[in-house]
Amino acid sequence: MEELLDPALGRVRVFLVHDDNKPRKLRHNLGPELRHRRLLTFGGAHSNHIRAVAEAGARHGVETIGVIRGEPHLPLNPVLARATACGMTLTYLDRASYRLKHTEQVLARLRARWGQDVVILPEGGSNAAAVRGCAELPGEIGEDYDVICCPVGTGGTLAGISAGLPEGRRALGFAVLKGAGFLAAEVARLQREAYGRVRPNWSINLDYHFGGYARTTPVLDAFAAGHGVERIYVAKMLYGVLDLARQGAFAPGTRVVAVVTGQPPAPAAGSGSAELVEHR
Ligand SMILES: Cc1ncc(COP(=O)(O)O)c(C=O)c1O
Repeated sequence: MEELLDPALGRVRVFLVHDDNKPRKLRHNLGPELRHRRLLTFGGAHSNHIRAVAEAGARHGVETIGVIRGEPHLPLNPVLARATACGMTLTYLDRASYRLKHTEQVLARLRARWGQDVVILPEGGSNAAAVRGCAELPGEIGEDYDVICCPVGTGGTLAGISAGLPEGRRALGFAVLKGAGFLAAEVARLQREAYGRVRPNWSINLDYHFGGYARTTPVLDAFAAGHGVERIYVAKMLYGVLDLARQGAFAPGTRVVAVVTGQPPAPAAGSGSAELVEHR
């Protein structure tokens, strides 16, 4: 565990744990029942989840279908190009239908197109199996802590982390969407689906969305660059953790773990490469 040193934190200690949530969410979703079946899932055109499913499908020999929100744009962006390179078939849903993607009406259309036994994974991969995968994380953190924090998109990661916590510790999620009051009901539903009960040890902070999903501000951009963290999820959570700590929201002596759920941003094109060789 790497400690984040900042004099403004006072006696609150903040530790970073690097742990990509995508493989955890997929692990129990890729069991033997998938053999000879297609796996279909949903995401926006920049979705990390779409890329993770495509990569896992390639590794496990499972045919994957990505249902992408909105219209196709060519050339494909890097996420979708990577997904197709892994063998994922892309299909697009107009935004109105996409909002209804988890309703029986749209699911029936997708099953008619991709086969009645297609396995459908919800957006963000958050289902009971994903929650059980994320619940394995707290047990793997060797050090002692009081609070564990993570970003919240669809709620599966927080639902799992909270479910895996020993008594006496709590989980704090940071919503990356604006107006995300509905997420608490989602986290509760996911815990009920996975374990039949809701743990009382978690909460969601709604104050650090920076304008909404994938929105940013110059302050957040500078913070993400300064800490070398991914912007859409991780920077919002980490900014929130540090801001709350400075405001005294954690009691002195509290040990806070912030889970860095994403990869660091790729270096900007052309930056810092000593190996740039010109080929003529
Ligand atoms: C880096 C990162 N962190 C956090 C999340 C949010 O996880 P969840 O949708 O389980 O709330 C995602 C979602 O894809 C993500 O890519």
